Amino acid sequence: MKRVLKCVRCGKEYPINVPRYLCDCGGLLDVKIVKEDSDDFSHIKETWKKRRCSNKPVDESGVWRFRELVYDFDESEIVTFPEGKTNLYELPKNILDVKALFAKHEGENPTGSFKDRGMTIGISFAKKLGYKMVICASTGNTSASLAAYAAKAGLKAVVFIPDGKIAFGKLSQALAYGAKTLQIKGDFDDAMNAVREIASKHKIYLLNSLNPIRLEGQKTIMIHTLEQLNWEIPDWFVLPGGNLGNTTAFGKALYELKKFGIIEKVPRLAVIQAENANPFYSAYKNGFEKFEPVKAETIATAIRIGNPVNYEKAKRSIEFTNGVVEEVSDEEIMNAKAVLDRSGTGCEPASAASLAGAIKLRKKGVIKKNDKVVILLTGNILKDPGATTDYHLGKLHYGGSLQNAPEKIENSKEKIEEKIKEILGE
Ligand code: F0G
Repeated sequence: MKRVLKCVRCGKEYPINVPRYLCDCGGLLDVKIVKEDSDDFSHIKETWKKRRCSNKPVDESGVWRFRELVYDFDESEIVTFPEGKTNLYELPKNILDVKALFAKHEGENPTGSFKDRGMTIGISFAKKLGYKMVICASTGNTSASLAAYAAKAGLKAVVFIPDGKIAFGKLSQALAYGAKTLQIKGDFDDAMNAVREIASKHKIYLLNSLNPIRLEGQKTIMIHTLEQLNWEIPDWFVLPGGNLGNTTAFGKALYELKKFGIIEKVPRLAVIQAENANPFYSAYKNGFEKFEPVKAETIATAIRIGNPVNYEKAKRSIEFTNGVVEEVSDEEIMNAKAVLDRSGTGCEPASAASLAGAIKLRKKGVIKKNDKVVILLTGNILKDPGATTDYHLGKLHYGGSLQNAPEKIENSKEKIEEKIKEILGE
């Protein structure tokens, strides 16, 4: 495979091994994969499957197992845990009235979110290009992932996070893995502006999803899911949208799988935003005529983003897959999370936006009874214990029948006996 960076706006091409995040015209860059005569995809699905029997980390990785569509590193250059060995769960039928509902659980990655799939290629690239330091802005998960992979690779890591509004699980990871953690007085969008400026001035590698290299790893969420479905293409793939990296990566993955003859049809993407962090939804509603950033606010802090950097590329993904964009309230997100948690699957709030959105789209009749639906769970339930306990302790101004607050009980044999009988229904 031949790979170059290509501007999505003016089409100008650049070599892939010279670091660059934007075109001279200001447009976003994509990794363009060009198939060469020696590339043969006729048995690729078997090759990918066979690698699952190998104990080599690069074959075990749910990213590098699909390396033909990721990057052609030498094995020794790859920094992997390995990541991407995540499950696809069939969820109980009563959750959504459809033919089949699956959850792809990216919270099962080494640092508890999908970010590890992008970080393995991002950090490997940073090393190959000779960087000693990496940087990102983050609502929490990118910083946790960057910190862990940098630690493994022996690189210095600096992360910019919003002041407050970062879930405790994520903050504790960045600190524990040893990243220099800077809490900027501002929100994610301010942090993003700051790191872009720093990366343009210093030899520090930027690993936000603005970096097109990272998204090549995130494509494997889609490839892996389709493989787990035995390549039977679902009708819908529903995902939360923040900085719109996954939206971009999934559209690109589907485009390439189709172009190289690996699949014949593509699922429709449904991107779900929180209703007070919804610039992509607003743009979709006006037919992508204009895009206006917003001041973002939501309990789902992972997607508390008002000015997503990948807007132009994400729009292309919606157009290519005949996709839709929907918005949901914090209440809908937390109630959907309670349903997922109670099913035993569990996730962080932003992930539950997928289910909340699927429920809304089903009610509207956009998702139909006969459809097969995959929802993406982006982060682990332990990432944000604060939001979960606030919900169950009744500290939010909404809740539902699934609220489950702890009860205080006296340390007396009789009282405990009485309580157990009550629970047993005796
Ligand atoms: N879900 C979770 C759990 C996330 O952490 C993020 C993004 C998203 C969804 C949105 O994904 O940006 O591809 O649309 N978190 C970033 C971070 C911004 O800094 O951890 P997206």
